[in-house]
Amino acid sequence: MIIGVPKEVKDHESRVGITPAGVKALSEAGHKVLVEHNAGELSAFSDDEYQNAGAEIVGSAYDTWRLADLVVKVKEPVEKEYDYFREGLALFTYLHLAPLPVLTDKLLAKKVTGIAYETIRDRAGTLPLLTPMSEVAGRMSVQVGASYLEKERGGRGVLLGGVPGVPPANVCIIGGGIVGTSAAKIALGMGAKVTLIDMNLNRLRELDDIFGGRLYTLASNSYNIARATHEADLLIGGVLIPGAAAPKIVTKSMVEKMKRGAVIVDVAIDQGGCIETAHATSFSDPSFEVNGVVHYCVTNMPAAVPNTSTLALTNATFPYVMKLAQMGQKAALAADEGFAAGVNTWDGILTCAPVAQSQGREFTPVKQLLQ
Ligand SMILES: NC(=O)c1ccc[n+]([C@@H]2O[C@H](COP(=O)([O-])OP(=O)(O)OC[C@H]3O[C@@H](n4cnc5c(N)ncnc54)[C@H](O)[C@@H]3O)[C@@H](O)[C@H]2O)c1
Repeated sequence: MIIGVPKEVKDHESRVGITPAGVKALSEAGHKVLVEHNAGELSAFSDDEYQNAGAEIVGSAYDTWRLADLVVKVKEPVEKEYDYFREGLALFTYLHLAPLPVLTDKLLAKKVTGIAYETIRDRAGTLPLLTPMSEVAGRMSVQVGASYLEKERGGRGVLLGGVPGVPPANVCIIGGGIVGTSAAKIALGMGAKVTLIDMNLNRLRELDDIFGGRLYTLASNSYNIARATHEADLLIGGVLIPGAAAPKIVTKSMVEKMKRGAVIVDVAIDQGGCIETAHATSFSDPSFEVNGVVHYCVTNMPAAVPNTSTLALTNATFPYVMKLAQMGQKAALAADEGFAAGVNTWDGILTCAPVAQSQGREFTPVKQLLQ
């Protein structure tokens, strides 16, 4: 199979779909990998590294797409990439089609097989290609928060771990899933006093076992959230109700009662955010202040650490790329129901129920089409 790896063109996107390690494995298995010139540059992978691993470096995005049977990317195609779509092409990437009817139309019109990272499920029913980015964002939320707590950056001038004789900062994390647990690990490692709030008591039990009582856990209700946010130096939002907008469980009046110079990192902002005063920001202008409280609400935090993020993402995506290359699209998808759940468009037919619901369209379950 010929696999194409274009350079990402979405604003501020610095990750890449396949690493040199992936190229080596695919080449050794007898496949040809075309990597667009400088595709890995921002993730610290040079053309030379790709070439040494067996890739052919291609001068243009047009040729990378045109010559490939399978294109592996990171972000959904942007408008200027729509012209590269053609019948028979398989596209493996984050697609996020629900709010993108035009992209959906283009994929359907050109009969592209669109396989979305975000809808693939594993045997446990979780979303394995979303997890690595939550791990990155959760860990980053604490280092970003620690930095904004510095006076120079608008914070209260508090050191997360304190020093002997001076207490550590209070970190409050809302949501004890992947983001929240990753944040808790880093915050505890830096010596902060960490409180974690979740609505799922079984999850709090698990976290209590994992962290051996070093973590203060609280059940999610407005009384507990009001108290914990009032005391927090750093507040991290990491709640998720799958498929739905995040609930605004930290209200404006709770933010008004927070300490001046406290910092909020609302990681859940990509789902609308769980803090009422938060709005989405980008790396060009990542933070703003409300009532003296610094807010950091970047929707694609992992792009700040593209080397780590690319490695983490491709660790999870690569086994699927290899399956597609070795078995061919149809056999690979038919053999694995969770992988098939990633198919959003197939031969001009919409196959993803949540996308169909949000766009008011018909869909056909992919299972029927793979038979
Ligand atoms: N900003 C970014 O760059 C970035 C990167 C990665 C992930 N995210 C986002 O971070 C969010 C969290 O992701 P995750 O992978 O940790 O999800 P997850 O499903 O692993 O965890 C979510 C947790 O929120 C809890 N929760 C739900 N409602 C709650 C409530 N009312 N009160 C308290 N807890 C509640 C759930 O019980 C669960 O434990 C998602 O919106 C995800 O898209 C953002």
